[in-house]
Amino acid sequence: MSKKIISVENLTKTFVSKAEELTVLQGTSFNINRGDVICLLGISGSGKTTTLNIIAGLDEPTSGRVLYGGSNIGEWTLNQLYDFRLQEMGIIFQEFYLLEHLTALENIMVPMILAEKTEDEAQERALELLTQVGLRKKAINHPEELSSGEKQRVCIARAIANYPSILIADEPTGTLDSKAGDEIINLLLGIAQQRQMTFIYTTHDPYVTKLAKRIFLIQNGLVVENGQSSFDNIEFDEKNFKYKFKGDKI
Ligand SMILES: Nc1ncnc2c1ncn2[C@@H]1O[C@H](COP(=O)(O)OP(=O)(O)OP(=O)(O)O)[C@@H](O)[C@H]1O
Ligand SMILES: [Mg+2]
Repeated sequence: MSKKIISVENLTKTFVSKAEELTVLQGTSFNINRGDVICLLGISGSGKTTTLNIIAGLDEPTSGRVLYGGSNIGEWTLNQLYDFRLQEMGIIFQEFYLLEHLTALENIMVPMILAEKTEDEAQERALELLTQVGLRKKAINHPEELSSGEKQRVCIARAIANYPSILIADEPTGTLDSKAGDEIINLLLGIAQQRQMTFIYTTHDPYVTKLAKRIFLIQNGLVVENGQSSFDNIEFDEKNFKYKFKGDKI
């Protein structure tokens, strides 16, 4: 089996609205291997969500391609994309997107019901997942009755319900204090390791990159990696208001 699972080739993305044309990605390329744990770090507005949305096939690039195992998702049908996201890719959105009228348990059951599991099977696994994310007691609570950290845990359980091979989390610690943030990252890493998933997450907080195997920085519309990328090797460039690897001139 090839090590490479995702290839991103020369992605560009320009949003065009009445007021302006905004180029967020300008020809970025990178590869992701099976089992990688990647953190994409960038300031607010640098294009993290845009990049993840394109990788997940939720948004189209202006030009460039995303390949899974060599297959260009830009050529997939909507059904293929839907099946892929349902079975192979777990996504934890920055805005959660929990269904407010469903309980925590029911929210976690949704992807399993969509994947045609029986209600009993889905319920049993949703309860196991709630236990795994430390939220068994909140099974029948609705999202509005949960804290941000608890909602995040429901989203994690929902994302891994169908045993995806790729897990994507957009700012999973964004709304949490540092202790709760650490707990969430450790939970996600534990799950990713246990299931040998490829795990990609974003943050605007350099500290949160600490546990990643590879750190990508997004700056000036490009995703860049440094061979020795490690937490200690990142600094904030006050003048240009962006993160950079120490020693890099850009
Ligand atoms: N649908 C859209 N239409 C127009 N502009 C958009 C759209 N989506 C995003 N943008 C713009 O693209 C830029 C990048 O947005 P994006 O959400 O990818 O940033 P981000 O790095 O995820 O930021 P944050 O850390 O705040 O979540 C921003 O300037 C944003 O205003
Ligand atoms: Mg974002």
